[in-house]
Amino acid sequence: MSIPQSFIQELLSRVDVVDVVGRYVQLKKGGANFMGLCPFHGEKSPSFSVSPAKQFYHCFGCGKNGNAISFLMEHTGMGFVEAVHDLARQTGLQVPEDDLSPQQQAQASAQRHKQATLTDVLEQAAQAYRRQLRGAQRAIAYLQGRGVSGEVARAYGVGYASEGWRHLASVFAQYDDPLLEESGLVIAHAEEGGKRYDRFRDRVMFPIRNVKGECIGFGGRVLGDDKPKYLNSPETPVFHKGRELYGLFEARTAIREQGYVLVAEGYMDVLALAQCGFANAVATLGTACTPEHVAKLFRFTDTVVFSFDGDAAGQRAAHKALEGALPYATDTRSIKFLFLPPEHDPDSFIRSHGSDAFARLVTGAQPLSQFMCAVAAQQCDLSTPEGRAHMSSNARPLWSALPDGALKRQLLGDIAAQAQLSGADLLEIWQRANARGPHHISTIHGSDSPATAAGPADPTSSRRATPSRPARSATALASRRAVPVSRADHATRLLLSHMAFFDELSHEDLAALHALGHPHSPLLAWLEEQFHEHGALPWAVLRERLRGHSSHQLAEQLMTGSHAQAEGDIDELRQELRDLLNRILIEQLKIEENALISAVGHDPVARQRYYELHQQRRALEKGKTGAP
Ligand code: UTP
Ligand code: MN
Repeated sequence: MSIPQSFIQELLSRVDVVDVVGRYVQLKKGGANFMGLCPFHGEKSPSFSVSPAKQFYHCFGCGKNGNAISFLMEHTGMGFVEAVHDLARQTGLQVPEDDLSPQQQAQASAQRHKQATLTDVLEQAAQAYRRQLRGAQRAIAYLQGRGVSGEVARAYGVGYASEGWRHLASVFAQYDDPLLEESGLVIAHAEEGGKRYDRFRDRVMFPIRNVKGECIGFGGRVLGDDKPKYLNSPETPVFHKGRELYGLFEARTAIREQGYVLVAEGYMDVLALAQCGFANAVATLGTACTPEHVAKLFRFTDTVVFSFDGDAAGQRAAHKALEGALPYATDTRSIKFLFLPPEHDPDSFIRSHGSDAFARLVTGAQPLSQFMCAVAAQQCDLSTPEGRAHMSSNARPLWSALPDGALKRQLLGDIAAQAQLSGADLLEIWQRANARGPHHISTIHGSDSPATAAGPADPTSSRRATPSRPARSATALASRRAVPVSRADHATRLLLSHMAFFDELSHEDLAALHALGHPHSPLLAWLEEQFHEHGALPWAVLRERLRGHSSHQLAEQLMTGSHAQAEGDIDELRQELRDLLNRILIEQLKIEENALISAVGHDPVARQRYYELHQQRRALEKGKTGAP
């Protein structure tokens, strides 16, 4: 990969894991080590220990352990490269990146520097807004009127931007510093000689943080009924609405404790939910939920519950979220949709009906499969053949966006049953529709159509309205496997000899291993299961357990072959596995991208998916790990 191992060693020798962990966890000295409440599982008495001598953390409760880099990755959801850069910045080291030209390196470093400066400026503003809230009776009264406790306001760093056009001039020494404009805090008037003024005036301020806890922007609400109700920071080098979620930083511990994340639509929803026992809530920032949002959430948990207001806008938002979530609906994840009664958002619902009523809604939330089928059947009369045909064609792009797996296969059966077709027939119809592509749709008039069996083409039949959106074909999905065998061999061998590495794999990594297909994935699936049940087991034990298992022979072969010695420094092996996984991911993404290119056409879901895969691959090639 791009960052040399020697640099990682150097970096780890310069940082102190106690400082790094201490940024996120309150630590107390106890003997040779520091102790605190484990951030990875819920606990009341501290079993999380950090050793300055070993530069290692370990939780006696849940077993999580690692170094400064793995802590950042696990705790904040940063990728490996991001974590390395984060640490390097604190130590003043420059990260050498082999595959970048000196010019590119300088550019990348300038960009990182700019981002760090912008978040510093925004943090200063956040502190100033918080100070201003203390003396602002009207703003305090407004928050009290909405039932926000002081505790919650503090936890989310809520503040107040004073009235007046240039209040920030008293906060920043240089009001004409271009950084103020670039961070979105100040607006420079195009005319009138670039006259400057504060963007946020007389508003309750909600600081928006990234997963590292840095302030990257704000939402500001008027105290009354003026318009616009909310003003948000503009897009800046550090703030991208389509990527960030309000409250994620604040919610991350609760998400792990509760085992799921709740996605709402507004700032006030997050505050109200947190106050009523749902500190695991986040909100999109006035935009539809994007695949990038979904990917980010899945770095923290395997279960996402989307909540939507009970109005038409809520329904539209739910459709968008469904589209964003489909590509991530692997068999180990759970995605649910919660619909509030009309006229309610989570804030108003939980305040008028209470936590228990809301908890019941969460429990009863609709699984993705059910919601997907409901969406496909919308406006289709399933009591008629036309309606069922229409439903099945609506279902095609949705179903196709699902990753291959047991869920996808079952849903094929479900949709087929609803359409009164066999699974094979439905797949064939879909595949032909794929092959025809969007340009042929207007020419379907019976002769070449598989549906002619149902009778002569009726120009009024619902078939005419069939949106011929291309989709990833089953074969394209199957081709995810075409990764050179030796790489798969090697990764499997590393995991066989160091099962503890499973703990460090992201959801994406596991999906990539699963996609390796026969013969590796059954062995790896078994191994992962063993790890979850028994923790890391030595090869000698594994070998006994494997007797009689269909993967026995493969494992033997890998562990006794000529490259079998997976010996060496543990960090080196860890890095080796990381490299292998990245290459495997890149290979798989390339194959998937190529399959998609031919199918993209006018399908926004497919296009979005393609774009995303492409971004993800580019990021990996640049040396990033994990999701985009
Ligand atoms: P809503 O209009 O549903 O408002 O907007 P809300 O969150 O219930 O607000 P309260 O309860 O009246 O305070 C949902 C989200 O859409 C974005 C904000 O992110 C808001 O939280 N939004 C809304 C804007 O960006 N601008 C607006 O003018 C309105
Ligand atoms: Mn509201």
